[in-house]
Amino acid sequence: MLEGLEGLYQDALAALQKAKSTSEVEQLRVRYLGRNGELTLLVRSLREVPPEERPRVGARLNAVKEALEAEIRTALERVRADEERQALERDRVDVTVPGRRRALGALHPVTQTIEEIVDIFVALGFEVATGPDIEDDYHNFTALNFPPDHPARDMQDTFFVDESYLLRTHTSPVQIRVMESRKPPLRIVVPGATYRHDDDLTHSPMFHQIEGFLVDERVSMADLKGVLTYAMRELFGPETRLRFRASFFPFTEPSAEVDIGCLICGGQGSQCRVCKGSGWLEILGAGMIDPNVFAAVGYDAEKVSGFAFGLGVERVAMLKYQIADIRTFTTNDLRFLRQFV
Ligand code: PHE
Repeated sequence: MLEGLEGLYQDALAALQKAKSTSEVEQLRVRYLGRNGELTLLVRSLREVPPEERPRVGARLNAVKEALEAEIRTALERVRADEERQALERDRVDVTVPGRRRALGALHPVTQTIEEIVDIFVALGFEVATGPDIEDDYHNFTALNFPPDHPARDMQDTFFVDESYLLRTHTSPVQIRVMESRKPPLRIVVPGATYRHDDDLTHSPMFHQIEGFLVDERVSMADLKGVLTYAMRELFGPETRLRFRASFFPFTEPSAEVDIGCLICGGQGSQCRVCKGSGWLEILGAGMIDPNVFAAVGYDAEKVSGFAFGLGVERVAMLKYQIADIRTFTTNDLRFLRQFV
C-alpha cells in the first residue's frame, strides 16, 4: 500500500506541475482529494491494514495528503497568476495609437457669414427680427412705396405664389412688419432668404439678405455712414474704404449704393477681374427711410427719421472667400463645403 501511495504522490505532483489552468488544478484536486478521490480511497482502506502497521502507514498517508493540499494551493496560485497575465495581455490597449477622428458637420459658409454680420450689428445694440418668406404684395411692395406699375413687380423679377402671395424679393418687408407692431426707437437687423427670377454666375434665384434699419428722433445720413463704415471695417478689415453713390429705391430718400474698395487689387489694378478695373465693389443698398413708408406704418415723419440698408450675403461671402460662382453655395459639393469647417 505504501508503494501505491508513493506512486500516487509522484503522479499527482507531475500532473500538478503540468496543469495550466485553474480548472485543470481543480480537476486534479477532485481526482486525488475529492469524495471518491484516489487518496481519499486509500485513507478509507487504512482499516484493512494490519493494526501493527497502521500508525506508520496512517502517518505517511496524512503527510502525503497535507503535502498534496499544499501543492494544490501553490499550483492554484501559479495558474491564477498566469491567467491574469494572459488576460492583461489579451486586453492590452495601445494608448499611442491615434484615435479615429469623428466626422463632424459644420455650418454652411452662407450661415457663417450671416452669423458674422449679425454679430457685428448686435454688438452695436441692434436686435434680430425675422419675417415670412412668403409675403403679400402690400408688405413687399405697396407699403414700401412701390408705385403700382413699378418694374420690380413684373413677372420677370418676382415669383408669384398666387394672386395674393409672392416669394419676397427682399428683406425690406420686415421693416414694415416690425414698424407696424412697434414704436421707435428701433434698431433692427433682419437676416433671411430672398427670391428673384435670376440665375447666372453672380445671381441665384434664392439668395440671402441682411436688412438693417434704425428709427429714432433726428437720425441723419451721417449716422448711416458711420454705422455702415464701422460694420464694413469689422467685416472686411480696418483699412476698408466706403463710397456712397447716389441711387434710387422707392422706400428711401435720399438713396445710395455703397461700394467698398476692391479687396483684391486694393483699388489699384486696372486689370483686376473682381472689380473690373474700377477699384470698387458694390455691396449695399441704403438710404434714409422715405416719409411715405413712415406714413404706411402710422409713424409721424415730422417727429421720427431713420436709415435702412440691405446687404447681399452671398455677395459678401464671395468677396471674403474669393468664390467665383454663386452656384457653388447650393450644389453641395463636399470638397467645397469642407473648406469652411
Ligand atoms: N431692398 C433693397 C434691395 O433688395 C436694398 C435696400 C434695403 C435698399 C434698404 C435701401 C434700404 O435691393
